[in-house]
Amino acid sequence: MRRSALLAAAAVVAARAVSAHGNITSPPARLPGPAMLAACGQTAVNTVLGDGTIALEEVKASSALCKVDLCRGAVFEDNINRVQLFTPGQVVVVTVALPIPHEGPANVSIVQTATNKIVGDMLLVFDTYADEKLAELPANNTAFGVTLPSGKAGQAVAEACPTAGSCVLQWWWLGTDAKQTYESCIDFGYRTMPYVDHYNQPDLALRSSL
Ligand SMILES: *[C@@H]1O[C@H](CO)[C@@H](O)[C@H](O)[C@H]1NC(C)=O
Ligand SMILES: *[C@@H]1O[C@H](CO)[C@@H](O)[C@H](O)[C@H]1NC(C)=O
Ligand SMILES: *[C@@H]1O[C@H](CO)[C@@H](O)[C@H](O)[C@H]1NC(C)=O
Repeated sequence: MRRSALLAAAAVVAARAVSAHGNITSPPARLPGPAMLAACGQTAVNTVLGDGTIALEEVKASSALCKVDLCRGAVFEDNINRVQLFTPGQVVVVTVALPIPHEGPANVSIVQTATNKIVGDMLLVFDTYADEKLAELPANNTAFGVTLPSGKAGQAVAEACPTAGSCVLQWWWLGTDAKQTYESCIDFGYRTMPYVDHYNQPDLALRSSL
């Protein structure tokens, strides 16, 4: 009895040694809701609600409508009140929780949701990330700036992502030995033109037309 309890505890420790966990904590990232429930089923939603930092591989979808490999199954319709407004060239400061780090590559990109393809180049790439063998993780593992495309590349984003929901800013991390993948997604609208606040900056042409 005692021995089997010890063996069970050892198995848990062994499993922990190869598992990892993480998610975006800011800006607000996609969460589960009724639309994910409809596509992915109660088991998948319960898994994510039980641990918001869980790997994609742990999420068992009830149907092919559920895109676990895009935002871990979370969908736009459940996250309309979390949409961010981004501007070409803006540096988006992202914070991440890594409660259980595990070494591997990570990246951040704009991903088109209809195709699940990266728009343009990856915006940030870590060849090695969340290395649990380091005494301390580099500060940029849990807080980093992502510079959004501007100029021609910004125009390409505006074209590929005409409305909120058509693209996401996705954080992706693979714990290599754990063979576990993590994804968090930020929904956004993209301004094609630099932002001008017509109410606080005099714009006579606009005012005279009001
Ligand atoms: C991240 O994980 C935490 C802990 O489970 C959870 O409370 C939070 O809702 C999750 N956030 C996202 C964006 O997944
Ligand atoms: C990150 O890189 C991996 C491996 O090349 C790729 O499969 C994935 O789509 C990329 N994800 C993002 C969000 O850039
Ligand atoms: C993160 O910080 C580490 C240590 O300072 C550095 O070697 C690495 O290039 C940085 N990575 C990114 C993507 O900024």
